[in-house]
Amino acid sequence: MNKFLWGSATASYQCEGAWQEDGKIESMWDSYLHEKQLENGDIASDHYHRYEEDIRMMKEGGQNAYRFSLSWCRILDENEKVNEKGIEFYKSIIRCCRKYGLEPFVTLYHWDLPQYLEAKGGWLNKETVYAYERYVKVVFEYFNGDIQYWTTFNEPRWFIFNGYWIGNYPPEKKDKSLTAKGAYHVMLSNALAIRAFKEMKISGQIGIVHSYTPIDGVDESPACLQAMRFADNYCNNWVLDTAALGQIPKDMVEKLSKEGVDMSFILEEDENIIKENVVDFLGLNYYARALVKPYTTGETELIVNNKGKAGKGTSKTIIKNWFEQVMDPNSEYTEWDTEIYPKGLQDGLIRAHLKYKVPLFVTENGLGFYEDVSNGCVDDVYRISFLNDHINAILNAKELGADVRGYFVWSSFDLYSWKNGCEKRYGLVAVDFDNNLVRIPKKSYFWYKEVCESEGQSIVRKKL
Ligand code: BG6
Repeated sequence: MNKFLWGSATASYQCEGAWQEDGKIESMWDSYLHEKQLENGDIASDHYHRYEEDIRMMKEGGQNAYRFSLSWCRILDENEKVNEKGIEFYKSIIRCCRKYGLEPFVTLYHWDLPQYLEAKGGWLNKETVYAYERYVKVVFEYFNGDIQYWTTFNEPRWFIFNGYWIGNYPPEKKDKSLTAKGAYHVMLSNALAIRAFKEMKISGQIGIVHSYTPIDGVDESPACLQAMRFADNYCNNWVLDTAALGQIPKDMVEKLSKEGVDMSFILEEDENIIKENVVDFLGLNYYARALVKPYTTGETELIVNNKGKAGKGTSKTIIKNWFEQVMDPNSEYTEWDTEIYPKGLQDGLIRAHLKYKVPLFVTENGLGFYEDVSNGCVDDVYRISFLNDHINAILNAKELGADVRGYFVWSSFDLYSWKNGCEKRYGLVAVDFDNNLVRIPKKSYFWYKEVCESEGQSIVRKKL
């Protein structure tokens, strides 16, 4: 049996920087953030030039795995010609991982679509599905044998919903019908990547990473149970059922059709591909659950707080005729309105285990916080407590039978947190963005080292 993976995670756009070096083409995020003159990842943590130091620190921090993503824009140019320098960059990262005894855990797509494809309609254009299939085939060909753990996408819900329904990510649309279409194209791409993986007999296993939001209800009334089902379809099932069971949730498709969404883009031949090509494992990113109640009144309202303390309490999820999300008065929330609720992870892992019956990895979990890193040390006791309680939840779930094979802290080091900028810090290692991007291990880094080295024995155990 493979060893339990104790690692940490990053994503290309959020940490690499070097946005136009060595033949990398423009991604949709480069273009969008430049155009809007917003804080961007042009330099980010400069991992492109400092990956050796970063990976060495992971090793010295006791970790045995590194989850990172490949940037499509470094690997292929506008004419889909392979950029050897991009290939070489990721080969170097993998060599470095091996040198330090870290297992590479690779995401094929973490939101940085080439801009030329976005300009042609992005995930709304079925051509992007086939471009993605060609891209992953190139990666499989070049990296076969180097990687054991592959994932097709990071968080389809997050980039599709934020881009097409909530409207806070590019291309800033707010349209349920576009969302349904984009979501379908991504899930079809996932199945095509798995098909290619099998047909090309690539070594290792392939999964998908989902922004897992276990659903709880305010009570057990029939109306609330129905709202929970709607919320589960919205948050989880369209990704997890489609990827792991090969089935797009039927009741969701019916409901969307009844609400006037034209679902004729679903083709029988695609459904067969989806049915026949399911994942080997699931990667679950856990930040919080959703507590829901039945929908009451008013229009759909979707607000994500990207302003931190200036916007605290403004987040809202109301889906007309589906459900409403509520805050739990007994819970603590971060400045960005994320509930701190480790029990959701324990419950969610058990539910996912019972429903999908595939190995599970917690591919992201962490706490975003404002931190002053200028005096050379970060005493992040709040993060230690957060991580302890969430790892405890995983250990509980394992003891209750969930087949969990690994855990990755988000993030390995401070990086660019999309619309929240660099001031929302998640890292085990601080990056001083104002002082030459110096790396400073936080207290949590040393704490996590002990957790990894003791394989979880040092966790303070609690019943949840
Ligand atoms: C996940 C993503 O949604 O959560 C990461 O996979 C992201 O890319 C992380 O950075 C934390 O979210 P945020 O919005 O606080 O950066």
